[in-house]
Amino acid sequence: MTPEIKIELSGSGALAVTISRPDKKNALTNDMYGALADAVAKANDDDGIRVLLIQADGDIFTAGNDVSEFAAQGTGSGPKERHVTRFLRALANATVPIVAAVQGKAVGVGTTMLLHCDYVLLSEDAQLITPFANLALVPEAASSYLLPLRIGHARAFEMFALGEAVPANAAVAWGIANKTISNGELRAEAHRVAERIAAKPVGSLTAMKRLMRDAERLVAQMECESAIFVERLASAEAKEAFTAFAQKRQPDFTRIVQQ
Ligand code: COA
Repeated sequence: MTPEIKIELSGSGALAVTISRPDKKNALTNDMYGALADAVAKANDDDGIRVLLIQADGDIFTAGNDVSEFAAQGTGSGPKERHVTRFLRALANATVPIVAAVQGKAVGVGTTMLLHCDYVLLSEDAQLITPFANLALVPEAASSYLLPLRIGHARAFEMFALGEAVPANAAVAWGIANKTISNGELRAEAHRVAERIAAKPVGSLTAMKRLMRDAERLVAQMECESAIFVERLASAEAKEAFTAFAQKRQPDFTRIVQQ
């Protein structure tokens, strides 16, 4: 249990999961992934839960994985059990419908987890950012498969390689999200959508979701990504990226030859 992930079940069966580490821009730690993984697993296993809602406190959805934990993993000093794997697998295998409410920036896994959600609401200031190359890493969460499938190779490569922010209206136009809404209305509207979904026949929705997604394919892609991701974390390029982040400077990759 961590106070940085808040869980609340409504009477209608909507399980709201709130990322709440606003002082660190909701950067996700191993403990937070553990709580998220437990919540998604609970939503899948508990018949009383009819919809899962992922939202966040503060001015941004999440800054993605905690970079200091990436750095620790790269040197082999990170936690033995990586809950992120459990979280991503639970998302891939989820049969419960998932709604997401995103304000401000959604960085890294903050964006790639949206590809596993079924209804994504973005505030007007939302920005989707996948800076995997900036960190000398590779995409995760089966996004190397799902993002090109969703928005085409050209746009997906641009997002992954250049890591520039995709504004909310483009994300909707490209089919990553359903609609934009004002920041003030975001959370209330997400709850309204979750309540509407919770009122539908749950057997129909879970069967529908199973038909629409190939969970086995997604987990296989995650395994391929994870093997390369772990190698990348220990690379000289990634060390430079993590050190630069800690020192609040731009990384300089120009002196590192290809490994
Ligand atoms: N991991 C760990 N700490 C993070 C973090 C992350 N991913 N993102 C932000 N933080 C911390 C900062 O280090 C800072 O801590 P400090 O106050 O102790 O110095 C605090 O959160 C506020 O961040 P700051 O950078 O000052 O906020 P900002 O509004 O100027 O910028 C971001 C917000 C998200 C654009 C910027 O923090 C960022 O780019 N973070 C890294 C994102 C990233 O690369 N994630 C990994 C994706 S794979």
